[in-house]
Amino acid sequence: MQSDVAYAICSMNDIPSRQARGFQLAVVADDGTARPWPIFVLRWGRQVFGYVNRCPHDGVNLDWERNQFLDSNGTRLMCGKHGALFELGTGLCVDGPCKGRSLTPVALTVLDDDICVTGVTLVEDGEPVLDDDA
Ligand code: FES
Repeated sequence: MQSDVAYAICSMNDIPSRQARGFQLAVVADDGTARPWPIFVLRWGRQVFGYVNRCPHDGVNLDWERNQFLDSNGTRLMCGKHGALFELGTGLCVDGPCKGRSLTPVALTVLDDDICVTGVTLVEDGEPVLDDDA
């Protein structure tokens, strides 16, 4: 179900530049049911990039250590299971078992220093939960 609503999930200051954070969200599907929607947000200066936290190789979350989404150089996103590497800005896998495939992008916008997701209908029972607060 598409929506024009922007849902604030955290403040810009909650994510240091050149780091990423995972969020356990839930969306309302077309049939009206809720389904889990784990995503992560990478901040790079004033830019933010969002992806669904699901590796195109095996369908698992990328951060095998919580909120560790980057490789040791901090220049690629990395899946902790088999080490697939993804471009920061496009989510394209450039090395590893799913080379040539891509992470699913999440539409984000920044409003008054709040990072917001758009284009989906979120289930809003309480505040979104930062993975490291869970
Ligand atoms: S599950 Fe991500 S690289 Fe294999």
